[in-house]
Amino acid sequence: MVDTSVDLCGIRLSNPVIPASGTFGYGYEFAELYDINMLGTFSFKGTTLQPRFGNPTPRIAECTAGMINSVGLQNPGVDKVISEELPRLSRFFNKKVMANVGGFSIEEYAECASRLDKCDIVGWLEINISCPNVHGGGMSFGTSPLAAAEVTRAVKKAVNKPVIIKLSPNVTDIAAIASACEGEGADGVSLINTLLGMRIDLKTKKPIIANRKGGFSGEAIFPIALRMVNDVYSAVKIPVVGIGGVASAENVIEMMLAGATAVEVGAANLVEPFACKNIIEALPLTMEKYNINSLSEIIGGANG
Ligand code: SIN
Repeated sequence: MVDTSVDLCGIRLSNPVIPASGTFGYGYEFAELYDINMLGTFSFKGTTLQPRFGNPTPRIAECTAGMINSVGLQNPGVDKVISEELPRLSRFFNKKVMANVGGFSIEEYAECASRLDKCDIVGWLEINISCPNVHGGGMSFGTSPLAAAEVTRAVKKAVNKPVIIKLSPNVTDIAAIASACEGEGADGVSLINTLLGMRIDLKTKKPIIANRKGGFSGEAIFPIALRMVNDVYSAVKIPVVGIGGVASAENVIEMMLAGATAVEVGAANLVEPFACKNIIEALPLTMEKYNINSLSEIIGGANG
């Protein structure tokens, strides 16, 4: 029998498949469809200190092999997440969940992370310094090694649980940003968030997205994500979580060969709500097909 388990920052996952933040809500929407305990874990909707209404609509534009979103970190705020969403989740999810934290200042990141750190069900804090859809926060921290290091330092000081920094691909040297986070004690990095993109409606001659541009994700970005995961894997010693265009068990294995310890699945969940279930069920046979006995043994194998 093949072994699909991996260790992510000291917590064992039965498999490396993790629905990405913003594509899986707070879990219960999908729990109506299948038993989400089959997942490695999932990263819940990006959560900020204050509630956020999000960006004006339209927020979505379709593209070939992908989509653009500009949601703007819509969420009910950390206190409501802790008092309502997490208790509801714990009724049907018996694993540790990954808490995704957004912010607009270093202090806000640290405070929001610190509140979530105290929740029993939270296993990891994924700190999103890469949202391309908000002004004065998000990606502005993830495009400078200095700012990324500052957020990491502040969050690490405020929490006890493993901190995974979610990185932006909209930079020249993503490995330099990852190294800056590692230097301040990050326990892992996840990448890539979405690529900045734009579509124009030929009838109106105006941008489709109200915010003009947004983050491009979906199968089209897989080779870019894979390359960046490999760049970062070669530069740091902490675990790398691979994200970007993953839609099959084969993609998961490829990401792990590039250096990912675990793999987040994003846009695929929006196209096919059973995407993660299908990938997890396909993993053992796909491993056998490629003579892989243990997934944790193939991490970074393409570099060997
Ligand atoms: C959003 O809420 O705009 C998307 C989140 C992200 O891309 O980080």
